[in-house]
Amino acid sequence: MAIKNNRIVIIGAGAVGCSYAYALLQQGLTREIVLIDVNEEKAAGEAGDLRDAVPFAPVPVTIRSGGYENCRDADLVVITAGLAQKPGETRLDLLAKNTNIFETIVTEVMARGFDGIFLAATNPVDILTDVTQRVSGLPEKRVIGSGTVLDSARLQSALSACFHIDSRDIHAWVIGEHGDTSLPVWSSAVAGMKDIRTMAAEEGQQLDSIFQQVQSAAYDIIQQKGATHFGIGMSLARITRAILQDERAVLPVSARLNGEFGENDTYIGVPAEIGRHGIHRVIEIPLDETEKKQFAHSVRTLKETREGGR
Ligand code: LAC
Repeated sequence: MAIKNNRIVIIGAGAVGCSYAYALLQQGLTREIVLIDVNEEKAAGEAGDLRDAVPFAPVPVTIRSGGYENCRDADLVVITAGLAQKPGETRLDLLAKNTNIFETIVTEVMARGFDGIFLAATNPVDILTDVTQRVSGLPEKRVIGSGTVLDSARLQSALSACFHIDSRDIHAWVIGEHGDTSLPVWSSAVAGMKDIRTMAAEEGQQLDSIFQQVQSAAYDIIQQKGATHFGIGMSLARITRAILQDERAVLPVSARLNGEFGENDTYIGVPAEIGRHGIHRVIEIPLDETEKKQFAHSVRTLKETREGGR
């Protein structure tokens, strides 16, 4: 599948979908954005507001709202629609309601002959990515979830502040469920090419408490302002850039496991090589015994939740 029209269709013109659209515009990542929402008036208004920003963008972009017919020639369909967490709710609590919404959306998209790449952001994103692949029937590599890209960015930011090192020189992954069973891969984390556990010991830093801040970040923001959207919007733009520019970047997206890490038949956040075909391969990074146990628990939690329908 070659990049055809440089058209991205965003389903869901809420805060996440519009933050993502604004990030695309700011970074000049695409030439056409179409917003689809059940609230057509809202989608039209958001498209109009975004169009006002186009003269300041690095490249010309046409932005409009529309219907599912726009999916036919889209390179990317990004699903941000669905219910978001309320204070006190976990991401997994959203499964039943958002599964119904996704089944409807994906069926509508495929009915128009879509043959591009799906990118899912709605929670619980790992299971909803799985739903997207099963309902669409598209090859697994062309159905991607935002995974733990945002979690890993949060960890890198937190570690950057802690060690006073540019976050671009902090390489630390969060993998697993984008949720309460995610885990940091300390065994391969480095800051300025130095083992992060060694640096933390030398500087008296508590890595576990840093990760706890990361894992509670969304809950804290939701408590304070009602929702998160800028971080996930930029995370989606980062994945989009890797696809549209065929970067072969390694990002911890929701990818289906087929034996990697000893697991099968689960979409979950793992480092994967991302390019114009979507997921080119999962990168099976080494895990220590603690990380293996935590990852297996995360896989089991997602499988049990998916089968239980929550
Ligand atoms: C968050 C949402 C995207 O972690 O789950 O902010």
